[in-house]
Amino acid sequence: MIILGIESSCDETAAAVMEDDRRLLANVVNSQIDLHGIYGGVVPELASRKHLEDIYPVVDQALRQAGITLDQVDGLAITQGPGLIGSLLVGVSFAKALALVKKIPYVGVDHMAGHLFSVFLGENKPEFPYIALIASGGHSSIFHVTDHFHYRLVGRTRDDAAGEAFDKVAKILDLPYPGGPIISELAKNGDPAAISFPRSWLDPDSLDFSFSGIKTSVANYIKQNQQLIMNRGEKGRSAAATADICASFQEAVVDVLAGKTMKAARNFNVKNVVLAGGVAANPRLREVFRQMGDQERLAVSMPPQKFCTDNAAMIALAGFYTFRQQAVTSLDMDVYSRSRITELA
Ligand code: KG4
Ligand code: ZN
Repeated sequence: MIILGIESSCDETAAAVMEDDRRLLANVVNSQIDLHGIYGGVVPELASRKHLEDIYPVVDQALRQAGITLDQVDGLAITQGPGLIGSLLVGVSFAKALALVKKIPYVGVDHMAGHLFSVFLGENKPEFPYIALIASGGHSSIFHVTDHFHYRLVGRTRDDAAGEAFDKVAKILDLPYPGGPIISELAKNGDPAAISFPRSWLDPDSLDFSFSGIKTSVANYIKQNQQLIMNRGEKGRSAAATADICASFQEAVVDVLAGKTMKAARNFNVKNVVLAGGVAANPRLREVFRQMGDQERLAVSMPPQKFCTDNAAMIALAGFYTFRQQAVTSLDMDVYSRSRITELA
């Protein structure tokens, strides 16, 4: 079965072509970072206009890359939510038009379910049951997953998501959007023990997260240590001070993300853990997950970095499994902004 996946929930217009769950024939991701960068974050109205411009060329490029035409597509998989409504609507309307004109069945895919499925795009696939941490710009959620379609939310952020914390701290440091990649790069030259930023563990049994406090701590630290961290005789912060702030902030976030995921694995007595979502591209988080996994004798799986951040391959794969369940979505389906699988029952 050939699936065309389309993703437009935030600031990436993406299309991918998959054959069953085995072969990725095309994977095109068109990022809007350059457009939003100067505003320090995603501007929803600009995002949807850009999706509108890009969606046709991106899908066309994916079909060319796969060496197929639309007539060979057996199923369409499209991100239905959560995300920015205007952005989602572009992808969903485009898919509906294709479905109608070409009479191709289609399924709506939850973006978070897509991130959960993304680990099956890599070589190192997990065995069920497992605990999965999905850390992205909008969510930091821990799921107990028993099979492809049964996942229960057991922990989530009470305020900011982990990726959001990276993005906000980058803004405080006058670094460009998105914050994750640049902070992790600068952190390589810094000392993670230089500043002890608070780890928010909440109450001892909780698997929830809270990341809003740490960004305030970073802002306060900078305010209180102006003299210390300025380059003598120059304007601006020294590169060494910035690197130390990045490394120390990253270490605090990584500690909590990995620590709580391992705790969830113990609580649910599972032997496998999964790390996915945009923040899973963070090299230090990947390293600590592997180390902690070894210590706890857990098998750790994570997708290759290019499948951590938003892409349509994960949507196509989730679509494939959905089609295999004989589930198709009706043409009157609507988009949604808040995740349906991350709300605690
Ligand atoms: O999954 P994703 O591409 O989009 C959402 O669904 O939100 O995640 C984007 C988030 C952004 O907040 C970005 O700063 C973060 O993932 N991110 C990273 C890294 N690369 C991307 N965070 C930490 N370290 C990274 N290397
Ligand atoms: Zn995402």
